[in-house]
Amino acid sequence: KSTVVESGLLQYLYQFLPCSSSPSLPGPPSFFLIGNMMDLTHDHLPIHLTNLAQRYGNIYRLKCGKTTMVVLNSSEFIREALVKKWSDFAGRPVSYTGDIVSGGGHTISLGDYNEEWRAHRRLVHSALQRCCQKSLHDVIERQALHLREVLMDYQGSAVDLSEDFTVAASNVITILAFGKEYDKSSLELQQLHSCLNEIVALWGSSWISALDSFPLLRKLPNPVFARLLKEVAKRDEIIRKHLNNYKSQYKKHDDAITGSLLQGLDKHQNTEHGVLLTDIHVHMATVDLLIGGTETTAAWLNWTVAFLLHRPEVQNKVYVELCTVLEGRYPKYSDRHRLPVLCSLINEVLRLRPVAPLAVPHRAIRDSSIAGYSIPKNTVIIPNLFGAHHDPAVWTDPYSFKPERFLEGGGGSTRALIPFGGGARLCLGESVAKMELFLFTAYLLRDFQFISPPESEASLPDLRGVASVVLKAAAGLQSFDNLVTFAMIGDTITLPCG
Ligand code: HEM
Repeated sequence: KSTVVESGLLQYLYQFLPCSSSPSLPGPPSFFLIGNMMDLTHDHLPIHLTNLAQRYGNIYRLKCGKTTMVVLNSSEFIREALVKKWSDFAGRPVSYTGDIVSGGGHTISLGDYNEEWRAHRRLVHSALQRCCQKSLHDVIERQALHLREVLMDYQGSAVDLSEDFTVAASNVITILAFGKEYDKSSLELQQLHSCLNEIVALWGSSWISALDSFPLLRKLPNPVFARLLKEVAKRDEIIRKHLNNYKSQYKKHDDAITGSLLQGLDKHQNTEHGVLLTDIHVHMATVDLLIGGTETTAAWLNWTVAFLLHRPEVQNKVYVELCTVLEGRYPKYSDRHRLPVLCSLINEVLRLRPVAPLAVPHRAIRDSSIAGYSIPKNTVIIPNLFGAHHDPAVWTDPYSFKPERFLEGGGGSTRALIPFGGGARLCLGESVAKMELFLFTAYLLRDFQFISPPESEASLPDLRGVASVVLKAAAGLQSFDNLVTFAMIGDTITLPCG
């Protein structure tokens, strides 16, 4: 009996000890109280974590307050954790600020792994699948044609296309979600995006993450946190208005995801494992789809244009392939197997600039191991997708833009590509995103040639980008690595061709 009491006592005491991973797990020196805070607040975290991997290997640990984080920098280790041992690492770290942003952990992306989360994800996944089967292709085609009109209206003048890409990606999601399409000048759309962008940017800032690691800071005034609260309230008001509008015309838009979700709630009547899904789950799923599905796709399109501006021969090859295979018609998603050059371009941009470079942090929900190192329960796992995609053991000349590596005999393996994560937390919108990337790029490159404005050639910005939760292209930053063999433009001009 006394052994049982002792082990119970030990377990009780253990929870008050800082979590620590296997003592032999390497990592940079961690300082009293602040741990590795300096490493974690680096201005381009994916690049910094990738550089640390050169020193400490493809798996190492960092400390932040009482939390131990393990950074995985190869697709082998990331797959081991996320796919092979998915049931050990499907959790999300529960945090003070994450709770605020996710309406008390009710989003799919930030919700922790439990029965309620599983039922929620299943509900949204099947609503998304149903809606995609019925209308995704048409919705994207319509937006691609609309984007074409917008570009034609510019008549070849120098423009920044990033906003147009955001509107196109956002319209795909809002049409799927509640049958609503916006014009670029719509005030409602601008409000929605500015507040979603603000939330993502503020939540990624160190002023906010410090509140999670150092609870005492919550007692001090923090204007950044006050702004976050304001934006979250604004977001919820906009989404609530949309859902109420939708409900009042319910029958008219049966194809939309929201309709399926609401029907799902009724049917569900929460029979599964006694889980109760309610309107808050529909509300937060809409937030997930809008945040997950807009800036990611738009950022990817921006990166593609940026790379192509400096590699006109790649653009020409894709154009020739499109002309030869399609013989003048517009592409369908089913054409992708006959368009290897276009697919190699898509894969190479996903490799070099995975737009969610550090995925979303995972949490070990039980004691486990990765790469032979023991990983205690509650360790936070950071899948460094950017690092995995630049791993010199897997990719020859990893920092160079070489779409041809994905063509037959080019040596690049799509198996080592992991831009959407994997396992139980695989990106929920992977199939939506893949169809969007393919159709938008094919439509754009069939009808337009992207070239840089002559005046920008003297001072071409580089391809480092700005890394927050989403890795975005940005003009005018310093080159991060001499190995980069191209430079990036910010603003582009488009010329109709053919
Ligand atoms: C999660 C990548 C587009 C919705 C994720 C994750 C990654 C990712 C890496 C984290 C996976 C993990 O935690 O291990 C991307 C990329 C995209 C894209 C590269 C486009 C180029 C989309 C779209 C949608 C979407 C279009 C919505 C229609 C989500 C959601 C999650 C997620 C809801 C959370 C999944 C969960 O926690 O279970 N995405 N995504 N994403 N993505 Fe995407």
